[in-house]
Amino acid sequence: MEYLMIDEEKVDISDKDKTLVDTIRRCKKSITAPCYKTMRKFGTCNSCLVEIDGEKKLACGNSPEPNQCITLNRNDLTQERKKKVVAFKKHVEMMEKYM
Ligand code: FES
Repeated sequence: MEYLMIDEEKVDISDKDKTLVDTIRRCKKSITAPCYKTMRKFGTCNSCLVEIDGEKKLACGNSPEPNQCITLNRNDLTQERKKKVVAFKKHVEMMEKYM
């Protein structure tokens, strides 16, 4: 079995996980990913920001790879995700007015 690390916790990689959002949620951790749920109906939200091996990337745009080190819960990342969620919600509200 292959593993990666999420916030220093060893997590197995499942064939069912298409993206890191799936892996993070499968191991009972929380991540914001509003456009992942709606299949990007209103565009990309950028709310699933994590750090992968020291680089900020979107969890929904990356598949789980063996030996990756994912940082999920760190104050700056959490704050950045919160801001992106607020911006995305405003964007969705505006888009819904025109649909
Ligand atoms: S879930 Fe929206 S960009 Fe990743």
